[in-house]
Amino acid sequence: MAKEAKTILDLLKEKRVFSPRKDFSENAHVKSESVYKKASRSREAFWEGFAKELDWYKKWRKVLDWKTPHSKWFVGGKINISYNCIDRHINTARKNKAAIIWEGEPGDSRVITYWDLYREVNKFANVLKKLGVKKGDRITIYLPMIPEAAVAMLACARIGAPHSVVFGGFSADSLRDRINDSQAKILITSDGGFRRGSVVPLKKNADEALFGAASIEKVIVVKRVGEKAQIEMKEKRDLWWHELMENAPQYCEPEKMDSEDMLYILYTSGTTGKPKGIVHTTGGYLVGVYATTKWVFDLKEEDTFWCTADIGWVTGHSYIVYGPLANGATSLMYEGAPDYPDRDRFWEIVEKYGVNIFYTAPTAIRVFMKWGEEYPRKHDLSTLRLLGSVGEPINPEAWMWYYVNIGNKKCPIVDTWWQTETGMILITPLPGVTKLKPASATKPFPGIEADVVDENGKSIEVGAGYLVLKSPWPAMLRTIYGDPERYVQQYWSRFPNMYFTGDGAKRDKDGYLWLLGRVDDVMNVAGHRVSTMEVESALVDHPSVAEAAVIGKTDELKGQAISAFVTLKESIKSNSGLVDELKKHVTKKIGAIARPDDIIFTAELPKTRSGKIMRRLLRDIAEGRALGDTTTLADPTIVRQLKDKYEDKEG
Ligand code: PRX
Repeated sequence: MAKEAKTILDLLKEKRVFSPRKDFSENAHVKSESVYKKASRSREAFWEGFAKELDWYKKWRKVLDWKTPHSKWFVGGKINISYNCIDRHINTARKNKAAIIWEGEPGDSRVITYWDLYREVNKFANVLKKLGVKKGDRITIYLPMIPEAAVAMLACARIGAPHSVVFGGFSADSLRDRINDSQAKILITSDGGFRRGSVVPLKKNADEALFGAASIEKVIVVKRVGEKAQIEMKEKRDLWWHELMENAPQYCEPEKMDSEDMLYILYTSGTTGKPKGIVHTTGGYLVGVYATTKWVFDLKEEDTFWCTADIGWVTGHSYIVYGPLANGATSLMYEGAPDYPDRDRFWEIVEKYGVNIFYTAPTAIRVFMKWGEEYPRKHDLSTLRLLGSVGEPINPEAWMWYYVNIGNKKCPIVDTWWQTETGMILITPLPGVTKLKPASATKPFPGIEADVVDENGKSIEVGAGYLVLKSPWPAMLRTIYGDPERYVQQYWSRFPNMYFTGDGAKRDKDGYLWLLGRVDDVMNVAGHRVSTMEVESALVDHPSVAEAAVIGKTDELKGQAISAFVTLKESIKSNSGLVDELKKHVTKKIGAIARPDDIIFTAELPKTRSGKIMRRLLRDIAEGRALGDTTTLADPTIVRQLKDKYEDKEG
């Protein structure tokens, strides 16, 4: 039986239920299910309650202004996010509390108190201002997981310059596209970063990206790896972070931002070849991430919170930086890989800092499972009191392994569903009240109206369908940068008056939601979102390739792995050297996360009579399933041949 079928079958047969432990519930922020009722009675009053816990320069006139599909939250309110994440803590007992605990890959570490963060952010905000940055100017951040990444984000937020963080694993080409789309004025990067003992040449990539990215006026370079990277500083354009910071004034007045002013752009993959710049604004986003960090993770004053995501993804934005810091928490940041120098690196860090809340992705959990229990067993993990999962569907086996081996059967697991677009967690247990079912993200957060619908948008009470959201939430994306039409078309046109998530889900008789993965052409590779079209465009960009079709095939560890079916130009002969060359080409065009696992050459691709590539059949071939209906194909023999070829390769 194919793997996917087995996992989904297992998932749907899952019967185990874990009730919250009494001692956990008694001390939790949320102790009773009544919050759901209260929130649904008045969603606006519910969110307003959280907004009141933050510091505003001017109170909102109206909680929500909703003209489908455009929302405005906390209308008329004035607020600054860096003020809320830093300044409001420094006149309290939190002044000398660790805001960020940072562990570098080679073992160097830094503890940055709220007071330290206050100084750094103020100074860097002044650096940006001195370089001519004004409210509304876009700044691209291309950094490894170092504290300067958080400082840069918060400094941008302080002066009202939207940041666009680009994941350090993206290539020069991807960086250039993102800079050009946002027309950023400043690029912040580093000489390099560490990954499994080698140096990631960020500055070199940045230099390459800047050929053809004319909007960038200055490049600010953090010194991270020193002599280990050979870099060139271009006169007048490139400036060292530490030199700029030396004489920067100590205080920068925060900009009074309108609730609806842009906070950041974050690019994510969609169903076309071009990444979308997701736009998040200020007031609603902060309320959303503040509330969910507090309730979903049951965050307490003394907790050390570790979210293992990279700051280049939305999880890093919302749950390493903005959510935890708005709550005055201690957020842990780690630069490196889970298996460097050894496979117990994560557990060593949990023990070293006494981590209480640990939030990671199923793909990591499945890898830990494969490595075996001996690695977590080497360390004292008894400080952990809550575990989280995000980024892709978790399978029951991985859930149970996590529960037993990391949580010692005492930590609730919050399986949190959300997206770059949603900005905040939307479907999740509340750890003090929700009975957990392994591999179910359980229920919508209070105030969130999620539904499962059929092809026609009709609600399915029990069964599988499309996951939609029927009313707005504070941290929702406001638009796609520079492409408002695409925003409407992409999210609001599949079903009238509903936000279409692109995900399939099943609802069981208890109303629990089980996420079933994407139903569009977006793949989820090791928790990273990659578009089939983007990889196809990268492949056809190679001079030998005539046509390419890409699919995500089920993979035990990564969730999905990338399979590419490629037709070469007539004069080109296929060979194994070309497979490597094409893989390298995709890595160069996009980044290592998009590198195909398999490349199969074929004389033709299976197409319908109207010329549409039949991806479903390619998926069947790649996953070893019997071929389904091929009658609509222009030439059914092609699939047969492809299937034989694929099986030869596998065999
Ligand atoms: O398919 C869903 C999956 O990740 C997609 C969103 O990806 P991205 O925007 O990169 O954000 C990832 C981190 C929030 C969703 O459309 N996804 C995310 N969380 C879960 C999930 N699938 C199942 N269960 C989850 N908990």
